[in-house]
Amino acid sequence: MLDKNNIPKHVAIIMDGNGRWAKMRRLMRSAGHRKGMKRIKEITRAANQLGIETLTLFAFSCENWQRPKKEVDMLMRAFSHFLDNDIKELNKDNLRFRVIGRSVSLSERLLFKIKKAQELTAKNTGMTLVLALNYGARQEIVDACRQIIELATKSPDWIKTLNERVFSQFLYTRNLPELDLLIRTGAELRLSNFLLWQASYAELYFTKIYWPDFKKEDLSEAIKDYQERHRRFGEISPERSEGRRRRIKE
Ligand code: FPP
Repeated sequence: MLDKNNIPKHVAIIMDGNGRWAKMRRLMRSAGHRKGMKRIKEITRAANQLGIETLTLFAFSCENWQRPKKEVDMLMRAFSHFLDNDIKELNKDNLRFRVIGRSVSLSERLLFKIKKAQELTAKNTGMTLVLALNYGARQEIVDACRQIIELATKSPDWIKTLNERVFSQFLYTRNLPELDLLIRTGAELRLSNFLLWQASYAELYFTKIYWPDFKKEDLSEAIKDYQERHRRFGEISPERSEGRRRRIKE
């Protein structure tokens, strides 16, 4: 049973394990990606029903270009297919769609479809589905610094106003809620250059389940685990500080 009053506002997922899922079944890696794509629909719908405000999915990293051309081309076709077909369904469900990442290297055709999908869903009021495409967290931070330096060169006094809140407005994730829960499927225990700034105080959840097998029940399980965590944001918990005070008095 989930506590409806403690649903994470922003959940991000590293959808890992498509390749290993396919290998286990003696299938091509592309079969794993196709199955993974179907999972996106189910998990997006489940997240929306649970009342999550923003779901960010890591679909393609800046480093993924190093994969064999055949696999990269297959993934690009999958994104294109997703934009052509699945966006219509998302729109019917009142979902907003947004893409984060570097636009360089993506084809003009794909960029056009992304723009259209974002425009189509811009006025919707339901959950925001964010796809991280050609995304890298270090690249995101460097891109933010470039913009900040440009602004500071024009108006040097402005730099005095720079703080963490202002800095985050230069990140691709500007105006999205703080990241609460970061899930990684596929058994690896690392962040792989995903949302490094945003994950500062996020709760991390790792599961061995490969992404193509990650069901809505598994999402609920991750949220249940999140609800059992005690988020302190660097402070000490009231009970602990009370205990400490008592010990000091004694
Ligand atoms: C990681 O698994 C997955 C990816 C790099 C691509 C994610 C893509 C999808 C889920 C399908 C298409 C998505 C959209 C939005 C249409 P991996 O290939 O690294 O798996 P492995 O670690 O087992 O090899």
